[in-house]
Amino acid sequence: MKTVLVTGGAGFIGSNFVKLMVKKYPDYNIINIDALTYAGNLENLKDIEGKSNYTFIKADIRDKEKIENIFESNDVSAVVNFAAESHVDRSIEEPEVFLTTNIIGTQVLLDTAKKYWKVNSEDKYCKEYKSGVKFLQVSTDEVYGALGKTGMFIETMPLMPNSPYSASKASADMIVRAYHETFGMPVNITRCSNNYGPYQFPEKLIPLVINNCLKQKDLPVYGDGMQVRDWLHVSDHCSAIDTVLHKGKDGEVYNIGGNNERANIDIVKLIIKTLDKSEDLIKYVKDRPGHDRRYAIDNTKITTQLGWSPAYTFEKGIKETIQWYLDNTEWIENIITGDYANYYSNMYSNI
Ligand code: NAD
Ligand code: DAU
Repeated sequence: MKTVLVTGGAGFIGSNFVKLMVKKYPDYNIINIDALTYAGNLENLKDIEGKSNYTFIKADIRDKEKIENIFESNDVSAVVNFAAESHVDRSIEEPEVFLTTNIIGTQVLLDTAKKYWKVNSEDKYCKEYKSGVKFLQVSTDEVYGALGKTGMFIETMPLMPNSPYSASKASADMIVRAYHETFGMPVNITRCSNNYGPYQFPEKLIPLVINNCLKQKDLPVYGDGMQVRDWLHVSDHCSAIDTVLHKGKDGEVYNIGGNNERANIDIVKLIIKTLDKSEDLIKYVKDRPGHDRRYAIDNTKITTQLGWSPAYTFEKGIKETIQWYLDNTEWIENIITGDYANYYSNMYSNI
């Protein structure tokens, strides 16, 4: 039996991934560890609570002792590291926690995995690992920086992150790579484009706009709204990670994306139209400092070498997502009435 340790599995993408794994692999043990920060929500996992192949442990990935205890008591064979501070705007307000969680947390996980997986952990020249082990680092296309009007991100591009968030993710990528080169650790890094779908925290563009439309509140659009993101449904991101976990070649980086570039303003207008609201709600606000203009993922490597492809079209995915938020108003109300209310009023104090 395989034991997969998923970190950050109470967040948006992590919870979608944990549910996929628990349902798809009844013969695996899925252990979800999460510190339950503002972004972690056990409500996201209600469907699988009590399943015999699923365990939740509250733990901070920076807590070396706790992580070691988890490895000591479980025969962990794979780590999928989602745990992170993930919001660019928050990284501009408060960079430190991004560095400690996203960089040091990753290093703690790598060191612990190395200790438990290396055949001779005392020998620095030993590059032999227990059979079938893997460390999968969930990274982001933002590590490549920003594109101009043309071109796409490919895996061999130099990393040129522009925000404290993306710089912390790029640092973690470099450390994961170094553990492969120096210690022979079997690793993969995935770099995905913008996700959307159920259970996304309402600080991010799509759920924020849906929620504000429903409340008849202004829709904050940064700068001229012509920044471009390459959107992928969360379930397609999760299926890609599952593919890399099982088929990825050790040491390789895989971009994940669905060739779906959209300008922010077009996304906002699409949501307004779907919800039958007025474009008068749009409010252009001061741009995000260091705002990346355009992202676009070249997914040739994962599609041709591993045979993955996305299942969702954007039209289907966004329709279902909007409907999900309409059907789950209680989920969003529980969030926006907590600490998030203070974040929102500070962040958008001028509208
Ligand atoms: P999220 O903010 O919704 O969830 C992050 C989770 O990590 C939360 O459950 C939180 O409690 C947990 N966490 C934070 N700090 C922790 C710590 N120190 N120890 C343990 N748990 C901790 O984020 P998300 O959007 O689901 O993103 C998940 C991962 O995917 C991140 O690594 C992010 O960089 C990456 N990613 C996200 C996107 C996207 O569009 N959202 C795209 C590509 C890659
Ligand atoms: O590309 C992958 C990344 O996508 C992930 O690594 C990050 O974790 C994830 O948060 C996301 O980053 P973005 O900064 O692209 O996502 P966000 O939803 O914050 O913003 C999407 C775009 O919308 C971006 O150009 C900024 C803009 N925006 C965002 C908000 C919250 C607005 O115009 N107004 C807003 O209020």
